[in-house]
Formats: sequence, C-alpha cells, structure tokens
Amino acid sequence: MSPSGAGHLTLIGFMGCGKTSVGRELARELGRALVDLDKAIEEKEGTTIAEMFRIKGEGAFRERERECLKETLAREEPLVICSGGGIVLDPRNVQDIKEKGAAVWLRARPETIRGRLAGDATRPLLKDGMSVERIAEMLGKRLPLYRSAADLAVDTDGKAPAEIAAEIAGALGRVAAAR
Ligand code: S3P
Repeated sequence: MSPSGAGHLTLIGFMGCGKTSVGRELARELGRALVDLDKAIEEKEGTTIAEMFRIKGEGAFRERERECLKETLAREEPLVICSGGGIVLDPRNVQDIKEKGAAVWLRARPETIRGRLAGDATRPLLKDGMSVERIAEMLGKRLPLYRSAADLAVDTDGKAPAEIAAEIAGALGRVAAAR
C-alpha cells in the first residue's frame, strides 16, 4: 500500500538510523501512540535483547519479534511503530506491515550509524566490532530488503529527529492530499 498515512506507520531501517527518536517525534506530530517493538519485547520477556541473544539465541528473539509485531499490528488505533533493524529479515513481517499500513525507511550512511552507536553496548549483532566497514557490510546485505519493503524512504544524515519527523508527516500529507 502507499504511505497515505492510513493504518499503522512502521519505521524500518538499520540499527542507529534513528527509528526510536524519530518515532517519538512522529507520534507526537501525528497525535498517535508509539510502540517500540524492542522495548515491548524486553518488557514482555522481562529481560534485555542482549541477554535474549546470549541465552536463547537469535532465532528465539526473531520468534518473539514476529509475535510482538503481529500483536501490535492487530491493534485498532493507528500507531507509530518502531521496529528493530532486523524486522525485514522475515518476509512475513514485511507483508504484515504493509497490509496493515505503510513502512517508512530511515536511511543513514555507515559513518553516521557508527557515530550514533558509538559507546552503545546494547546491540548484540555489533558486539564484536562496530567499524564503519563492518556496518557497511551488514547494511549492504540488508539494503535490498529495506528498499523493497519501503513505501517511503527518508535520508537522516545530518538531520535532527524533529526535522525528519516533519519531513515524513509532510510527505504523508502530500500523498493523502493527492488522492
Ligand atoms: C537488530 C536490531 C536491534 C534489535 C536487535 C537486532 C538487528 O534493534 O532488534 O538487536 O537485527 O538489526 P535497533 O534497530 O532498534 O537497534
């Protein structure tokens, strides 16, 4: 579906592309509730994502992530949803997100991501190294998935979260007005 603003708006993109901070601003701007999937999973499981990866493995986390996404998308009121960077790895997630609304892809350069994640120890997939090269390699593998999932893509480099949220809200308004 096109990003008309109807249904749930799910922010997708690589770790450190600003989904959480932009989501907060966008929810405020649109007067919607915000659901951060990573936080919701942590609350439900009573543990951190890093611990979940360490003890039960990535597969178990992906199952929880899928469940939590389905539960959130089933809610009636239109939400802003911040997803984890790996949500697009399961094509069923992408299909569900688009069926229930639109996917907004926040893009960022590896250098920007590296800068934003510096000193962060909460991302298990980057715990063994967070060089620009490693980020670029992982990002390169996922780019086709983000690209094909996205109803709308927004560059975030050098922009503040409020500015990015306003850009998204503006784009949604333009699409809605053109209908
Ligand atoms: C992941 C991204 C994380 C979190 C988990 C796995 C990924 O979320 O879901 O560590 O596979 O890219 P953020 O994108 O919010 O960091």
